[in-house]
Amino acid sequence: MFPIQRLRRNRNDERIRDLLAESRPDKSKMIMPVFVSEDAANPEPISGMKGIFRYPLSMIGEYCKKLDQSGLGGILLFGVPSRKDEIGSEAYNDNGVVQKAIREIKKSSKILIIADLCMCEYTSHGHCGILRGQNVDNDLTLDSYSKIALSYARAGVDVIAPSGMMDGQVYTIRKSLDSAGYTGIPIMSYSSKYASSLYGPFREAAGSTPSFGNRRSYQMDYRNSREAIRENSIDELEGADMLMVKPAIFYLDVIYRSRQSTNLPIAAYSVSGEYAMITSAVESGTLSEDFINEALTAPFRAGADILITYFAESYARTH
Ligand code: PBG
Ligand code: ZN
Repeated sequence: MFPIQRLRRNRNDERIRDLLAESRPDKSKMIMPVFVSEDAANPEPISGMKGIFRYPLSMIGEYCKKLDQSGLGGILLFGVPSRKDEIGSEAYNDNGVVQKAIREIKKSSKILIIADLCMCEYTSHGHCGILRGQNVDNDLTLDSYSKIALSYARAGVDVIAPSGMMDGQVYTIRKSLDSAGYTGIPIMSYSSKYASSLYGPFREAAGSTPSFGNRRSYQMDYRNSREAIRENSIDELEGADMLMVKPAIFYLDVIYRSRQSTNLPIAAYSVSGEYAMITSAVESGTLSEDFINEALTAPFRAGADILITYFAESYARTH
């Protein structure tokens, strides 16, 4: 009796395994999240995220030039402003931190700049929109999102990524961009963004922890996956050019399901808490270093086209 299909025939030759690999991490499909701080004078480390820094405006051009030379797909830019207020008005200041950073980066490289569009880094209360009482007012917030989008467009952004999870945000931003003549700027929508504990290190980095309450009234319930498909479909109808699932490795089912139900490109965002977990397990020697590759492969295997990951910089440097 012999095996009819001998799967193991190929597996003792690494060259054949490589040839037959169905998915693999690809640096040109990876996006590096980048924090730029208006106050910082030097790169500031972020606790829990070894090797990740908040960069000052004076160094951002040089840093992004280095990233560009390593062959990454692009950056996802987050601003840390020096001034916050109740309505997050710094977010649409043409001389705000993100707007200045975009202009700086453009001076020294052609790296693709995707700018995160939200208000939690800019509001004194840390919520992603304008409050009415204790709640975020969805529709009032949309007006501010439009202003931010136009301000990013004037600064020369390549792609806009709204992350606030307000209903109608993609449609509103698309309409504003188009009526101002910015028809060529695509929208990468954070369409399925879960209310997750995995954003902890990011919130410290961006100074965006809500001062009261949580984000469960606008981010998704992690018990739901059909809802993610509804979120995706609505954003697609509103004119999104790319969708996103976030976080990534605990949500591979959502990535897979999204892949089956849309033909739009899908980005997976492996978030700060995932990076913290993976690096600490590898640093301590509990897990071997190949765990990083395993974690970087999984979202692609599940069907993601793009991976946003804090490993992008080191991966691109070494591959
Ligand atoms: C802002 C935003 C967050 C992240 C990306 N954009 C934080 C949040 O929703 O609180 C998280 C990214 C990460 O953890 O790496 N809305
Ligand atoms: Zn936000």
